[in-house]
Amino acid sequence: MSRVIFVASGKGGVGKSVFSANLGATFADKGLSVALVDMNIGLRNLDLYLGLESKVVFDSADVISGVVPLKRALVRDKRLQALYFLSTTQRKEKFAATEEQVARLYAQLAGMHDIVIIDGPAGVTQELRLASSGVSKAVIVTTPEHVSLRDADMMDQTLRSRGVMKRAYVVNKANKAFMGDGILPSFETITTLMKLPLIGVIQQDDAIHLSANKGYPIVLQRGNYIERNFSKISDRILSL
Ligand SMILES: Nc1ncnc2c1ncn2[C@@H]1O[C@H](COP(=O)(O)OP(=O)(O)OP(=O)(O)O)[C@@H](O)[C@H]1O
Ligand SMILES: [Mg+2]
Repeated sequence: MSRVIFVASGKGGVGKSVFSANLGATFADKGLSVALVDMNIGLRNLDLYLGLESKVVFDSADVISGVVPLKRALVRDKRLQALYFLSTTQRKEKFAATEEQVARLYAQLAGMHDIVIIDGPAGVTQELRLASSGVSKAVIVTTPEHVSLRDADMMDQTLRSRGVMKRAYVVNKANKAFMGDGILPSFETITTLMKLPLIGVIQQDDAIHLSANKGYPIVLQRGNYIERNFSKISDRILSL
């Protein structure tokens, strides 16, 4: 299932969901059919970053339990016709699925779409086990902080032990003014600490933050440096 991309992090709040939303929009803008799946079970928020919260009626728990067929639960984005979204439940106890059922859901999505992006939960938890079921490719998001890098390394080891063999990382919220000043690590330190290929660096930028909170992935404002950056990152993910 190498067309299924699992977006992970050790530490929470590093930007997985904003990254997933922009990555999905980037692939869809390139003409690929994309399914974006919120798998932060119990703590969903990708619907808000996509501005699709009012359109969500069903979620993956409804699909797995047979309440609705998959197609009925997918929400199509009006701005990008090739972008589909599958939400998750806000009630953890409602998600009574096995790893096999989750893997089957991803396989079904991969059969319908060119790319499936899974926005995963932070940390090494039971939810992570479920969300990463059957995936073979992961992008670990980290920020340029020692705490985040240490947790990213832990997530890397966890995913490897779960058989996720294609792994890479992205540094998000990069701030050159503070990096390498003795407090935040430099890129040299980061690349030494992380034992994975680095596939992109995304600046800390209020425009990314504000746009996401308006429900509008910033790459849709075409022609800015962020769109070009995501375009390169998406190419590197495809060749992982
Ligand atoms: N490159 C960036 N520049 C500025 N702000 C950012 C950037 N990326 C993400 N943010 C902001 O960081 C916060 C956390 O982002 P997000 O919700 O995507 O993190 P997450 O890793 O998915 O969190 P969680 O672990 O809770 O799921 C949000 O306020 C978001 O707008
Ligand atoms: Mg998130």
